[in-house]
Amino acid sequence: NPASVKRQLAQIFYVSLKATVPDEEDVVPLVDVCTAKTGGVKFGDYQCNNAMGIWSKLKGKESGFRGPPSIGQAIINNLPPSEMIDSCSLAGPGFVNVVLSKNWIAQGVQRMLSDGIDTWAPRLPIKRAMVDFSSPNIAKEMHVGHLRSTIIGDTLARMLEFSRVELVTRRNHVGDWGTQFGMLIEYLFEKFPNQEDVSETAIGDLQALYKASKLRFDDDPEFKLRAQQAVILLQSGNPRYRKAWQQICAISRAEFDKVYQRLGVQLEEMGESFYNPYIPGVIEQLDKLGLVEESDGARVIYVEGVNIPLIAVKRDGGYNYFSTDLASLWYRLNKEKLEWIVYVTDIGQQQHFDMLFKAFRRAGWLPHNENVYPKCTHIGFGLVLGDDGKRFRSRSSEVVRLVDLLDEAKRRCKTALLERDTTSDWSEEEIEKISEAIGYGAVKYADLKINRLTNYTFNFDQMLSDKGNTAVYLLYAHARICSIIRKSGKDIEEVKKNGYIVLDHEDERLLGFHLLQFPEVFEEACSNLLPSVLCDYLYTLAEIFTKKFYSNCQVVGSPEETSRLLLCEATAIVMRKCFYLLGIEPVYKL
Ligand code: ARG
Repeated sequence: NPASVKRQLAQIFYVSLKATVPDEEDVVPLVDVCTAKTGGVKFGDYQCNNAMGIWSKLKGKESGFRGPPSIGQAIINNLPPSEMIDSCSLAGPGFVNVVLSKNWIAQGVQRMLSDGIDTWAPRLPIKRAMVDFSSPNIAKEMHVGHLRSTIIGDTLARMLEFSRVELVTRRNHVGDWGTQFGMLIEYLFEKFPNQEDVSETAIGDLQALYKASKLRFDDDPEFKLRAQQAVILLQSGNPRYRKAWQQICAISRAEFDKVYQRLGVQLEEMGESFYNPYIPGVIEQLDKLGLVEESDGARVIYVEGVNIPLIAVKRDGGYNYFSTDLASLWYRLNKEKLEWIVYVTDIGQQQHFDMLFKAFRRAGWLPHNENVYPKCTHIGFGLVLGDDGKRFRSRSSEVVRLVDLLDEAKRRCKTALLERDTTSDWSEEEIEKISEAIGYGAVKYADLKINRLTNYTFNFDQMLSDKGNTAVYLLYAHARICSIIRKSGKDIEEVKKNGYIVLDHEDERLLGFHLLQFPEVFEEACSNLLPSVLCDYLYTLAEIFTKKFYSNCQVVGSPEETSRLLLCEATAIVMRKCFYLLGIEPVYKL
């Protein structure tokens, strides 16, 4: 990532370290941004921390150094001349603090304005990646857990795309296969003796159908038998059963699509059923490699460090969730030639994926080193909780319809918008669009900003507040920046062509510095697949802009107007890139 300040500094320090300790092999520059935590911000922007490590190696040897500080001083003295650095100082036991040149910072921001923010994108060393996300189950509930998977997965796919991966496949691995279809189909036949009558409106609610058929299944042994036979008929390709199955899937799909459409999420469906024909072959290959064992009539695979085996074929000869994932991973590696496959599900499935990947390593189908491509990563997330601290449910039923949830967020935003006096001359269409942007954006952001491993409490009042770390606050901050630029009456494209950024005020410098942090923060967020890192960055950017820069530096009508307008524009561009990566639609006025 050539745009990363950290990497550029590391290159300069590498030259110095080579000169300071020419006999040391593979010295790696330890350069990091100073944070309030390391107590560094007072002394510099970045720190080089090599001196202590070098001293521990040289201690007792004839080196001419008297301790870490003298090594630190030598590192400073040996730095090649660079436009990046304004000054260096020594602190504590040998830390080298670096103050960046404000002109260099200004030029960096300026270059982004002229060349575009895509020049700040890192380049991952792979061409083909996949995010397996959302993946609800047909006819069962699409619950808030699937909503989390949808939101997080979409962002991860966007992050990989921004990292110049040529092909990022967004895969919806829907649960469209399994024993539940037997009872569903049998029940459907009972309810609609004439199959032509089956339609979305006739069935109404698939979940209700699921519940009713489950009741029949549990209560009536005769029905249960028929349902079990139905599974066999379906799996052997009986046309009447196949058709019923397709009808059920189509109705579910239409329901899922409503959620995806509201969220603006693209997915490519390739459900469990697709892999069914591949299962026997894959298990046979694993068997030939000596991985498959007989246990209690089932065919199982043991993997390192887990004392329960992975069940590849059930006792009755049937396949399960594991069988399908063995086949789908095989397919993804061999047919789709994917180099990085990311699975997004709740943390409860961690062991499932751990065992799956380990089985593939045992077979030699994935490299033993987890950091070498092709690689697989499971991204687990915590539960969604209600205000009562229990699993999130709505008052009326035990499941929350996701569509209702999103509509509710939008409705609340619309009410809040209509209460503002600035909106009186907005068209109905504008109000609709902006309440959607804010409402859906708020739901997404509330989810993405927390570390994904922790449980999260779903609370409309909190996520829709215009104060604090919320999408509403951020969208308003962005809209305010746009309105400052509009108020200046200047054509910002003209200003970009002819104007220069100057960072004389400390808050201008602070803003410029934070803008320049984007490339390395994004790189960290992407390599650890942590959208929350990007959210923290975005929130801090909005805070620095609003509470520091805009409070203390007059923009419109000041002698520094040109430079400050450019800083406003650069901030808006970086914010919009963050919004885009987080799947949030920006708002330009409020
Ligand atoms: N359908 C599963 C669920 O609802 C998630 C599937 C995740 N993807 C996979 N390849 N197993 O929990």
